[in-house]
Amino acid sequence: MATCLVLAVVAMLCAGATAQSGCTSVLISLSPCLSYMTGNSSTPSQQCCTQLANVVLSSPQCLCEVLNGGGSSLGITINQTQALALPGSCNVQTPPISSCNGNN
Ligand SMILES: *[C@@H]1O[C@H](CO)[C@@H](O)[C@H](O)[C@H]1NC(C)=O
Ligand SMILES: *[C@@H]1O[C@H](CO)[C@@H](O)[C@H](O)[C@H]1NC(C)=O
Repeated sequence: MATCLVLAVVAMLCAGATAQSGCTSVLISLSPCLSYMTGNSSTPSQQCCTQLANVVLSSPQCLCEVLNGGGSSLGITINQTQALALPGSCNVQTPPISSCNGNN
C-alpha cells in the first residue's frame, strides 16, 4: 500500500511538472519523505534520509522550495513543523532556513 501511495504521489508530481524551477525532480526524489513531511509518519525512512542527504549536497536551494510548501502547488500539503524536523530526525546537516528568504 505504501508503494501505491508513493507511485500515486510521483504521478501527481509528474502531472505538476510544468511548475517553475528545476526542483521538480528533487521534490520527486524526496517522495520517500512525504509520509513523514505530511505528518503521517513519526519517523522518516532510511531511504528518505539518504535522499535528503543527496539533495543537501546536490541542490540545497531546492530544500527551500520544499520547506516553503513548494509541494502545495503540486497538490501536496506539507506539515512545515514536520518538514523542519526532518533533517534532525535524519541527522543530516542542512543549510540554515534563513538562507531561503532571498530565493523568493
Ligand atoms: C497514515 O498512517 C496511518 C497509520 O499509521 C495509516 O493507516 C494510513 O494508511 C496512512 N495514510 C497514508 C495516506 O499514508
Ligand atoms: C504538524 O505536525 C506537528 C508535529 O507533529 C503537529 O503537532 C501538528 O498538529 C501538525 N499540523 C498539521 C496542520 O497537521
